[in-house]
Amino acid sequence: MSTTTETAPVPDLPRAAPYPVDLEPGKDYYWCSCGKSQNQPFCDGSHKGSSFKPVKFTVDEAKKYFLCGCKLAESAPFCDGTHRKEKGLKRYNEFLLKANQDLKEKYDREAKLRKLMTASTVVAVVAIAVYHIVVPYHK
Ligand code: FES
Repeated sequence: MSTTTETAPVPDLPRAAPYPVDLEPGKDYYWCSCGKSQNQPFCDGSHKGSSFKPVKFTVDEAKKYFLCGCKLAESAPFCDGTHRKEKGLKRYNEFLLKANQDLKEKYDREAKLRKLMTASTVVAVVAIAVYHIVVPYHK
């Protein structure tokens, strides 16, 4: 008997708070469920190639609505306060830890590059100096 555990895909976390937006009846809206859209809280097609799909919705009256930014609300596309509950706070902490890790890796890569560039510069300066010292004696 094999046991495979499928884990649900985790959306990106564009914002740990809702997006206040003015919406009108008679229009179709597409809420981004993947969190990758650059036009939050609406879909811009960035989900393509993933298992996420935008959530199509309409509203009954023209007013300000609060659309989910943490992408975890049970009532999506509308905010239900999940971003302030344990599930939302846990996800936000994971997001911050990942962002911190990404920054550390970027810093480490840049530090290695700086060391390499410094070493290369020293080698180049020494080579030029040796050339200018040695070559005149061989002419
Ligand atoms: S860009 Fe996120 S669902 Fe389309």
